[in-house]
Amino acid sequence: MNLKAVRWGIGSMSFGLFGCVLIILTVNFTPRAEDKAHRVTEAYQGFQDGKCQSCHPAIWREWKDSMHAKAWIDEIYQAAAQQVPDRETKCDQCHAPQPILMTGIGEMPKLRDRQREAGVSCLVCHLDANGAMNGPPASAETYFHANVTNPIYTPPTKLCATCHGQKSVPEHDQLSSFLDSEFAENTSCATCHMPVVKRLQSTTSHESIKGRKHTWRGSRSVTQLKRAASLQLEYETGQVSVKLQSRTGHILPGGTLRIIVLEVTLLAPDGTERQKQHISISAENENRLLPNEDRTYTFDMASAATGDTISARLIYQLTPNTPESDRILMADKTLIIR
Ligand code: HEC
Ligand code: HEC
Ligand code: HEC
Ligand code: HEC
Ligand code: HEC
Repeated sequence: MNLKAVRWGIGSMSFGLFGCVLIILTVNFTPRAEDKAHRVTEAYQGFQDGKCQSCHPAIWREWKDSMHAKAWIDEIYQAAAQQVPDRETKCDQCHAPQPILMTGIGEMPKLRDRQREAGVSCLVCHLDANGAMNGPPASAETYFHANVTNPIYTPPTKLCATCHGQKSVPEHDQLSSFLDSEFAENTSCATCHMPVVKRLQSTTSHESIKGRKHTWRGSRSVTQLKRAASLQLEYETGQVSVKLQSRTGHILPGGTLRIIVLEVTLLAPDGTERQKQHISISAENENRLLPNEDRTYTFDMASAATGDTISARLIYQLTPNTPESDRILMADKTLIIR
């Protein structure tokens, strides 16, 4: 036997051993395809059977009350989608999506074949293809699911943009106006829509840690609407000027169905209405307010006299059909002419 052959022998032996180690590692740490599929199925089943709710009751309550939970059953959505012949490929994929960690952050979501009534469910934002729950760093482990720390949650703007910023769906784009604004420098979508809260993140956790509320208050919240814009009122010789300043992190109103009406009324000292004018701000009118935009509207009120009252009101309506009783006062100011 010559030396060359021996070396070759040892070489192939160690290669063989290395191969063995690799195989063992693979078997131990990467779940087989059937295991993954099983864990994903278990997550769906657990969601259905109330398991997420029983271990995460506070988060569940917040989510259940949010428009994400109602994204499919929402009557305004269903009425609109019914008008669209190919809704399954044009609309439904974001209102009842598959988990976006599986279909890809930033990619157009895909329509789910089960649990559609759960809309944008916990699984849509947290479940990965291995059946694990992704999130910010966790403080405890659980037998029910694996926890995976994933930077996509902090801040979550890219996660949100998967549905709120698809280029091909400009009707539902809160992202681009946000990115073009100063808000993008030091805030995220979570700053205004998922307030920070320190608490036990599950019933089996041992310590309170910082997390965020799953409330996503938006256009159905009076508090949110009241902080969306401010209003200033001035009067000078027959002219009323109203200055609006948006404080919203994106285009206002954020949705394309919404209408904000600026209404200016001139009242005589005895309360009778002398004059009324209004302006509608909406996607249809192509005059929505940009983040931090200051805009002044002037109204001719030539009949105004000393002692009259001018009142300016900013009123919000969800859709053009919203009855007067359901409209929300966002801001108002009054001024008496001296
Ligand atoms: C890219 C994902 C996506 C697609 C596709 C999509 N939507 Fe939406 N939809 C959203 C998001 C996000 C919101 C909430 C933000 C908003 O209103 O812009 C929303 C909100 C709505 C609302 C407002 C619901 C309410 O209660 O006020 C209606 C109506 C609606 N969508 C209808 C449709 C219709 C009809 C289609 C198909 C033509 C469609 N959507 C396609 C993501 C999507
Ligand atoms: C047996 C209790 C239990 C059940 C059932 C359960 N969880 Fe959890 N979950 C936990 C615990 C414990 C943590 C860690 C909490 C902490 O950090 O304090 C956790 C963490 C999480 C996280 C954060 C993961 C991370 O790494 O940041 C998500 C997301 C989550 N759970 C979602 C769910 C969903 C969705 C369901 C239902 C499919 C569910 N959980 C069911 C106990 C449970
Ligand atoms: C998988 C798609 C999807 C993702 C991801 C998503 N959303 Fe939504 N979101 C929707 C849909 C669909 C609606 C509209 C539901 C409806 O009104 O029918 C909605 C509604 C909202 C609303 C409106 C609530 C209201 O009452 O007006 C807010 C605010 C919101 N989302 C914020 C966020 C934030 C912040 C994130 C990221 C943490 C996020 N969303 C991630 C699909 C998504
Ligand atoms: C629209 C996306 C979305 C949905 C739907 C959603 N989450 Fe989250 N979740 C997030 C984001 C973003 C964070 C990171 C918040 C932070 O920075 O602490 C998070 C964090 C968590 C955490 C870690 C604790 C915390 O607050 O950080 C748990 C646990 C959790 N989610 C459970 C759930 C459960 C249970 C549901 C359903 C009832 C659910 N999530 C639905 C986006 C979502
Ligand atoms: C500086 C605070 C702030 C930031 C940052 C912010 N929002 Fe908003 N958002 C608001 C306010 C205030 C409203 C209520 C006014 C309105 O409906 O436009 C709102 C409303 C919404 C609505 C409801 C729109 C409708 O017509 O129903 C959605 C959806 C939404 N935001 C998504 C997002 C997303 C996605 C991001 C990140 C790209 C984000 N927001 C960042 C303050 C903010």
